[in-house]
Amino acid sequence: MNISVIGTGYIGLVAACCLANSGHQVFSVDKDLDKIEKLNRGVIPIYEEGLETLLNKAQQSGKITFSSEIGPALINTDMVIIAVGTPATADGRVDMSYVNDVAESIIDLAAYPLTVIMKSTVPPGTGKLLCKRFFSRAKVPISYSSNPEFLREGKAVWDWYNTDRIVIGTENQETAEKVMELYRDIDAPKICMDITSAEMVKYASNAFLATKISFINEIANLCERVGASIDAVAPAIGMDQRIGPHFLQAGLGYGGSCFPKDTTGLDYISSFNGYHFSLLKSVIEVNTNQRVMIVRKITQALDDLHDKKVAVWGLSFKPDTDDVREAPAVDIIKHLIAEGAHVVACDPVAIDQVKGVFTHNRLDFNTNPYETCRESNAILLATEWSQFLNLDWIRIKGLMKSPYLVIDGRNVLDDKTLQNMGFSYIGVGRS
Ligand SMILES: NC(=O)c1ccc[n+]([C@@H]2O[C@H](COP(=O)([O-])OP(=O)(O)OC[C@H]3O[C@@H](n4cnc5c(N)ncnc54)[C@H](O)[C@@H]3O)[C@@H](O)[C@H]2O)c1
Repeated sequence: MNISVIGTGYIGLVAACCLANSGHQVFSVDKDLDKIEKLNRGVIPIYEEGLETLLNKAQQSGKITFSSEIGPALINTDMVIIAVGTPATADGRVDMSYVNDVAESIIDLAAYPLTVIMKSTVPPGTGKLLCKRFFSRAKVPISYSSNPEFLREGKAVWDWYNTDRIVIGTENQETAEKVMELYRDIDAPKICMDITSAEMVKYASNAFLATKISFINEIANLCERVGASIDAVAPAIGMDQRIGPHFLQAGLGYGGSCFPKDTTGLDYISSFNGYHFSLLKSVIEVNTNQRVMIVRKITQALDDLHDKKVAVWGLSFKPDTDDVREAPAVDIIKHLIAEGAHVVACDPVAIDQVKGVFTHNRLDFNTNPYETCRESNAILLATEWSQFLNLDWIRIKGLMKSPYLVIDGRNVLDDKTLQNMGFSYIGVGRS
């Protein structure tokens, strides 16, 4: 099939490369000229394992092209996949302006019948609204399907081919069959439903996963107070097959480009529809507090943060990605600096991303974790990159200053060993 993908970010680029490698002819568009220039040179503008190889393969076979012009993407195409951003606005709404711009271009420029597939995460009800407001006005017939994406950054390519399910929301059987054809080589249940339900599946899935994270963080906080250990509690809870082991790792809470905006977005949608989603409000509140609580722990352990040096390991919201949107580390660094600390931050791939959004005269960066520890009073492990898990702690101790505080924001370090070596260790919910 001839497919156009609008938006070459974390989702659009993965979709475009994977579809091209499945034999489809893909025309990929982004309004960011810098991204298009890089992609045309075979360089991916993000850090995502395996994606560059896939891009290069697709380019060599002539199955993928990139452009900053949407016009050509609407000619000779069977499908247009929308994968532009839907960020949160300051008041928690979903910013639909990028999606609306693309919809506007489609009705202005489409000259042949086509199917629009929405991969961007959009509030339940959006698809119907877009059809009424935009696509019904097009000069040619346009069919529509919601096809939410569930892949994880850092494992995106693997997830594309090994997804648990493909959700297809449409009011039309012929459209459903066309969307299924996109995924002809993927062995996963393909579930068809109405558009609004498909949109809800995406929000509900993210809200549920966020709920598990906030829940286990609350249990961890309580463990600290009653003298239990989350290391024993969480795995035992997860062994119950009705609960499952995933998303039960206590820590700094969720971040990234999806959970924070999708939880606040769903909360806003609930309020807008006259529903007070109490549970979701608490999930969001717990997540925000978790970041503040870690700063409180550091402040208490160091007595006062003024003129103290803190090394922060990990900036991306999780390992194996350079995405720093809503990353706990970035928020925590802002708190630490506000409390008077000097921060030296370390990350294998995400330093430039943070420099792009936040700089301060008391914030330095270093890609070498040992160098960040020089003269530091404390280390905060904020993102569990594998690079931070097998370091020489004798060398680190020699570089640090008293009280040799290690704050393990992800509960991945060996607490007993560090304590025996003379570090003051603080985890999340570890006894
Ligand atoms: N990132 C994830 O892990 C993930 C997972 C599932 C779903 N999603 C959803 O997918 C959507 C995209 O997310 P992302 O992380 O890829 O965003 P992103 O910000 O990385 O990429 C969006 C891209 O769209 C481009 N764009 C915006 N307006 C455009 C226009 N009019 N024409 C052409 N290009 C345009 C931007 O320049 C940008 O490159 C969001 O709705 C998000 O919620 C993301």
